Amino acid sequence: MRLANVGETVTLSGWVQRTRKMGGMTFADLRDRYGITQLVFDESKDADLCERANKMGREWVIQITGEVGERESKNKNLPTGDVEIIVRELNVLNESITPPFTIEEQSDGGDDLRMKYRYLDLRRPNVRRNLELRHKFAFEVRRYLDEQGFMEIETPVLVNSTPEGARDFVVPSRMNLGQFYALPQSPQTLKQLLMVAGMDRYFQIVKCFRDEDLRADRQPEFTQIDCEMSFVEQEDILQVFEGLSRHLFKAILNIDIPALPRMTWADAMKYYGSDKPDTRFDMKFVELMDVLKGTGEFTVFNEAEYIGGICCEGQAAYTRKQLDQLTDFVRRPQIGAKGLVYARVGEDGTVKSSVDKFYTPEVLENLKQAMNAKPGDLILIISGPDTLKARKQLCELRLEMGSRMGLRPKDKFSCLWVIDFPMYEWSDEEQRLMAMHHPFTSPKPEDIALLDTDPASVRANAYDMVINGVEVGGGSIRIHDAKLQQKIFEILGFTPEQAQQKFGFLMNAFKYGAPPHGGLAYGLDRFVSLFAGLDSIRDCIAFPKNNSGRDVMLNAPGLIDQSQLDELHLQIDLPAEEA
Ligand code: AMO
Repeated sequence: MRLANVGETVTLSGWVQRTRKMGGMTFADLRDRYGITQLVFDESKDADLCERANKMGREWVIQITGEVGERESKNKNLPTGDVEIIVRELNVLNESITPPFTIEEQSDGGDDLRMKYRYLDLRRPNVRRNLELRHKFAFEVRRYLDEQGFMEIETPVLVNSTPEGARDFVVPSRMNLGQFYALPQSPQTLKQLLMVAGMDRYFQIVKCFRDEDLRADRQPEFTQIDCEMSFVEQEDILQVFEGLSRHLFKAILNIDIPALPRMTWADAMKYYGSDKPDTRFDMKFVELMDVLKGTGEFTVFNEAEYIGGICCEGQAAYTRKQLDQLTDFVRRPQIGAKGLVYARVGEDGTVKSSVDKFYTPEVLENLKQAMNAKPGDLILIISGPDTLKARKQLCELRLEMGSRMGLRPKDKFSCLWVIDFPMYEWSDEEQRLMAMHHPFTSPKPEDIALLDTDPASVRANAYDMVINGVEVGGGSIRIHDAKLQQKIFEILGFTPEQAQQKFGFLMNAFKYGAPPHGGLAYGLDRFVSLFAGLDSIRDCIAFPKNNSGRDVMLNAPGLIDQSQLDELHLQIDLPAEEA
């Protein structure tokens, strides 16, 4: 309803957000999916109607008919703020008890309360807008992929374990006593079978289930845009899905994104200490082993396997207190650094550092040169006995400084491909090599010979799409040769029997003319929350789980009846403290 509608008679239905009485007039804000409209009940025209309006409580469901009028005091914050409805008829469709929190953009309800009454929380316009964005996003994905010849095919939810590295959610089978289905961690093996079946270009917007520790960007059930193509090489996949991303940015945010830069995994680790670098800002790592190890008396550096620094432009005015805060930040157990060394470059170009007494001015000058630091800059340095760990610590520090310096605005987007991931990573827990992506990922052809001699150095035809430091998607070119697949399983520590038992269905399928194929999956929730500028993917999911994996509204998971357990021949035997 806009000014152009003035004089029209309309009928509206919705919820009463609030009412206020002013003299002989009663005003009410009517909320529906499309916004808020002001209603006016005029006592001098219809006293009975006005009396009924005064009885309305918050969240009552009403239907009104009236005439659109121009407001005297316009509300610039509302799209419908220029007009109001002079109500003629009021039909109360349902009353409501008082809601437990205010249902407005800024609510007074805490997280837990709003999740318990999520259906009320979803009435808030900002939450609803996230779902609208999600709908539009999924719609545009389908439109684009359909135009590119992709076919959406559903795959089953009751399956066997699919190896994506998390724990499975399992479902007992009544008809096959003692046996369990696993919910898919992804449709990985099924989409590969669809390629063997000749489906050529597949996609699916699909629920995946992973029993893993939850974080802001992880839910136990989440949605993938899962895709697979046949007769392609890595380059084809990168092109097609860069196209999809470009389409989404344009169609939804009206942003033209430049061609995605590609960074090798090795460079991402070297310059950003992360396989998902936030490239909205630069502040790349500089390795300082040559400059600081053995060039002074500072034992910490002299014993380090890695010394690296970042240059924070214009931050030399950081106070001692702020630097102590930063030191506490890197020392938190989640980050685990032993300490932080800093150096300020004064306006006259001289360097003053927290380790001055160990180094000559020449060494400090070399440090300034190596860091390409200018007067007024602050250099922060982390070192450690383990390169990977020290880089991860420096990564956290870089992100913290980026945030403090306002270099990570939510409405700026920086996308890239990270490519050439290693095939394997060592697991201390399992004491063996594990697939970095998943066991169906193919090695880079030029590295295949290394499988026998130095498997840890083999690179994979695997890639991730990263936006603003978030891994929004990832995939790989797959192995389509049963013998190579067998070999990869061996390196992962499966005996031929175990491999046959777990993945025999796939290896057998590969014997019947499997085409070369590859694909990727985007995390829909993550992609949408980036577009919406959200801190947690929960906010773009209608009914999310909390950090303990619970749906507090449904109170799930819950106990089941003894009769159901008996039917499944299941016994619950909890340790005493849990019972
Ligand atoms: P991967 O395990 O990398 O790959 O998952 C693909 C994308 O899914 C998203 N994602 C999640 N989102 C929310 N909550 C979670 N718990 C969660 N786990 C993953 C991420 C991630 O990039 N089958 C392969 C894909 C392929 O090879 O084609 C797979 O599942 O955004």
